[in-house]
Amino acid sequence: MKKELDWGNIGFGYRPTDYRFVSNYKNGAWDEGGLTKEATVTISESAGVFQYAQTCFEGMKAYTTEKGETVIFRPDLNAQRMADTCRRLVLPEYPVDKFVDAVAQTVKANIDWVPPYGSGATLYIRPFMMGTSPVLGVSPAAEYQFRVFASPVGPYFKGGIRPLRLRVSDFDRAAPNGTGHVKAGLNYAMSLYPIVEAHEQGYDENMYLDSRTRTNVEETGGANFLFVTKDGTVVTPKSTSILPSITRRSLMVVAEKYLGLKCEERVIPFEEVKDMAECGLCGTAAVISPVGKVENGDDVITFDTSAGNMGPTIRKLYETLTGIQMGRIEAPEGWIYKVD
Ligand code: PLP
Ligand code: COI
Repeated sequence: MKKELDWGNIGFGYRPTDYRFVSNYKNGAWDEGGLTKEATVTISESAGVFQYAQTCFEGMKAYTTEKGETVIFRPDLNAQRMADTCRRLVLPEYPVDKFVDAVAQTVKANIDWVPPYGSGATLYIRPFMMGTSPVLGVSPAAEYQFRVFASPVGPYFKGGIRPLRLRVSDFDRAAPNGTGHVKAGLNYAMSLYPIVEAHEQGYDENMYLDSRTRTNVEETGGANFLFVTKDGTVVTPKSTSILPSITRRSLMVVAEKYLGLKCEERVIPFEEVKDMAECGLCGTAAVISPVGKVENGDDVITFDTSAGNMGPTIRKLYETLTGIQMGRIEAPEGWIYKVD
């Protein structure tokens, strides 16, 4: 029996579900791990996660398809990205196949929380890892915990699909040879001050520029950019300091193979943004959220949002991607993981 929630109005927030998966790393090895109802973590006050932010996370979603099946979108790519993050943060890698299994177990155990087809909500899945044993000198912890919880969510941006207003941030998100390309909690800590300030000023998000030259577009605090040029080419920033978004990589395939559009992943000078026809933010939480305006001081760049609050090409991308995720459109091989 599905939970009785007002699925259309739940917003994007933590709503504890019945079960979460927990595995501990000790003496150089992960234990079997398993499901628990305990949502609270008790660890040392001097744990690596508290002292030196030794933690990383992932995010993906489970959907109820048109046929009523429960599916997860490309969890193997999240598993691989978490392994990449772990190597950069000196965390022990959690094996890819065990990661996918832990995610599937968590979804299955919370199946009543997977929002029904057509409700506009989805089940957000949050795997994460942290250093649990004490450290005092700057060093990696000896012991770790890997957890997966799930929470039903609605749209990431309040008000659902509407043209977002962004500002170009004076703050940097990631250093040129830093951790911008991995999903470290510390990247998000860095972005808190700028996002609070942006919200106070009436903006929805920050557009970060590359911190070496401050001339090229990077990403926002929680999503990659997609632009559509006036001649209909889909363009996305290439940078070694942005997160390799799974949604963005999937959308580039959708654009090329499903919609027959020309696609480019390349450096995008901010100077070029004023010549773009459409702009969107893409990510697991953001799906594709249309951008209406990007403001840099007094300069305001406006984008086409004429197709139901989105640009017409972004709209096609959105319809095709969500169609694939909800089982209305046939998915490329290996994109859809069925739970059951
Ligand atoms: N960029 C940042 C900084 C993010 O936090 C996210 C969210 O995961 C993304 C991009 C989008 O990545 P994905 O599509 O894999 O969710
Ligand atoms: C996601 O899209 O999964 C993210 O991690 C973004 C986060 C800002 C909620």
